[in-house]
Amino acid sequence: MTTPTTSIGKDLLGLAALDAAAIDGLLTTAESFLEVGTRSVKKVPALRGKTVVNLFFEPSTRTRTSFELAAKRLSADVLNISVSASSVVKGETLLDTARTIEAMNVDTVVIRHASSGAPAMLSQALASHVINAGDGAHEHPTQALLDLFTIRRAKGRIEGLNVVVVGDITHSRVARSNLIGLTKMGANVRLVAPPTMIPKQVEALASVPGSVTVGHDLDAALIDADVVMPLRLQLERQDAPLFPGQREYAARWGLTKARMAAARPDAIAMHPGPINRGVEISPDVADGDQSTILDQVTHGVAVRMAVLFHYSGGGSAND
Ligand code: NCD
Repeated sequence: MTTPTTSIGKDLLGLAALDAAAIDGLLTTAESFLEVGTRSVKKVPALRGKTVVNLFFEPSTRTRTSFELAAKRLSADVLNISVSASSVVKGETLLDTARTIEAMNVDTVVIRHASSGAPAMLSQALASHVINAGDGAHEHPTQALLDLFTIRRAKGRIEGLNVVVVGDITHSRVARSNLIGLTKMGANVRLVAPPTMIPKQVEALASVPGSVTVGHDLDAALIDADVVMPLRLQLERQDAPLFPGQREYAARWGLTKARMAAARPDAIAMHPGPINRGVEISPDVADGDQSTILDQVTHGVAVRMAVLFHYSGGGSAND
């Protein structure tokens, strides 16, 4: 396997810093790591002797376990540090933690933090590689990469596809990273949200002008859609409810099988998880044959292997 020739930098703070060739290179590396997960011995020695620290300041099950499995399958040594959000205040404490970790000579720090910009702060303070596993409402680059990977495998391409992203766009780092990544890869993105859940000027995040539209009508946006991605209602991030109630939300913006009928017959239904069943997605879609939700979880490990491999100074992926 070859390493992408495009520079991907020391740290992965967001997809905003990567160009289409770098994203494509990471997705291509992930293709070969996907196969490792199907072996009876699910391990390659690519990161033997390297140390990866998972530093999680927010509750997370799937992202943390996905990074942990990815690091272990590459034979890295992994340390998980979960810091209760309440015991940590932004700023100095984070820097102290960073310096402590630096002193242990780790190669890569994977960080999840409730504050946007926390990974960027670590990136400046540390010589180690820093990978953003989700910071506030800013970016969640590995989630968007695994979503791109899933779309590419399901549809054979990303360019030219109509992708509907529906939900709480304002609070969603998944939506931001996907919007940036999808438009870099040539997709058309239709953002759908209640008027209270969509930031002004969000179209400006598009990498290609005109490739993002904003609307409030899910049924209209679903016509000819290739990919539909409902987002979890980020109730914990809303100071006050931004919609009348979950039932009303489900009635207008919930993805149901009846609604999916407006999309292309071969459209896929995605969700980053965790899902609020019956709110943003109905069980018949989540568990139906158009759903890629569990594929996304499987792909997440392969994509994070590719990311750790590129951002931990690994040698050849086939070592
Ligand atoms: C996402 C996150 O934390 O941003 N989930 C995840 O990474 N598994 C999406 C969400 O919490 O809704």
